[in-house]
Amino acid sequence: MTRLLIHDLRQVATPSGRGAPLRGPELDNVDVLEDAYVLVEDGAISDVGQMRELGPLGDDVDELDGRGRCAVPGLVDCHTHAAFAGDRVDEFALRAGGATYEELHAAGGGILTTVRAMRAAGADGIANAVARHRDSMLRAGTTTFEAKSGYGLDRETELASLRAIRGAGGVPTWLGAHAVPPEFDDADPYLDFALAEVLPEAARVAEAADVFLERGAFDAKQARRYLEACRAAGLVLRMHGDQFTEAGAIPLALELGVRSVDHLEATSEAGIRTLAGSGVSAVLLPASALFLGRPMPPARAFVAAGAAVALATDFNPGSAFTESLPLVCSLACTQLMLTPSEALAACTVNAAHVLGRADRKGRIAPGYDADLLLLDVPDWRYLAYHLGGDLGIDPIVGGRRALP
Ligand code: NIG
Ligand code: FE
Repeated sequence: MTRLLIHDLRQVATPSGRGAPLRGPELDNVDVLEDAYVLVEDGAISDVGQMRELGPLGDDVDELDGRGRCAVPGLVDCHTHAAFAGDRVDEFALRAGGATYEELHAAGGGILTTVRAMRAAGADGIANAVARHRDSMLRAGTTTFEAKSGYGLDRETELASLRAIRGAGGVPTWLGAHAVPPEFDDADPYLDFALAEVLPEAARVAEAADVFLERGAFDAKQARRYLEACRAAGLVLRMHGDQFTEAGAIPLALELGVRSVDHLEATSEAGIRTLAGSGVSAVLLPASALFLGRPMPPARAFVAAGAAVALATDFNPGSAFTESLPLVCSLACTQLMLTPSEALAACTVNAAHVLGRADRKGRIAPGYDADLLLLDVPDWRYLAYHLGGDLGIDPIVGGRRALP
């Protein structure tokens, strides 16, 4: 047995309790232990307490000096498009000059620009890109990440994306219905191909399937067909819904029992109530709303209605070029008017729930994986407070320091 004692931490901050997902007032409950330690055994947390309660441990214990830093759970990014090659800096400059995201997409840019870059990159190039993105997410404090395919849209490149995500330690989601690739005229024949030729192998590599249900992408009928086939193949279901328009995502989500609907910037009062009363999580992506200059999702209304709210980056080269969940926490507090505690729960416990890992990830408590961040800050709430600032993030993953 290997044991590690992380001692002399100024604070250990963790969402309270053991349940998931957290809803309503429970989202705001964070336990903060001052002058604390965390004990790790074989990669899992075995004890958390205050220094003055620490009993003798024997001499087979490694030590890591907390040096008065603050510990929070390793962050869980439950929605990224980290399997991308190249960039979209030219389109970013065009958008800064007034072009809209939807115009660029309609003109064959947007997602399809990245599809061209991915097809040219090959399997090794894709694996290198995903590993590089995983490393930059880790430096920003993400110790568990989901990533979607969806920039290949042919058999070879979709499967290479999913394998690269799994190879980099991520949770792979098959976003086979992201856009219609140029070799097809229409969404329906493309779905015929994707479901017949890609799904059987994708279902062996991925954990979940996702669809972009939106005007100009896939409609509710096409999304239903795609998701039903993916469910029959054993995949968990997720959806991009209500990003620009309400196009039927929430009723379909409830009917099919999907795990989450993500984006929700355009959701109405009725949609908020319906989603909140269901087992479907609401994944909010404020960095995407910011990056596209769009309205923010109605986060307070979701929390007040009792929804299982999670936060994620949406990390991708077009609509949210950031790998930083701390930045997302800052946006949550300044734009969505969540508290720092709500923001922390939303990108730890509730994000882990979206990925089906809330029994092991998202808390600093006995029995959870020893994934935590040591922050060189005077109060854990700097995570949200220091906008784009240097938090001195020292990630511990499975009880080991993960950065040199
Ligand atoms: O979640 N909404 C669709 N897909 C991504 C954007 C992908 C891109 O622009 O490359 C999103 O925002
Ligand atoms: Fe997305």
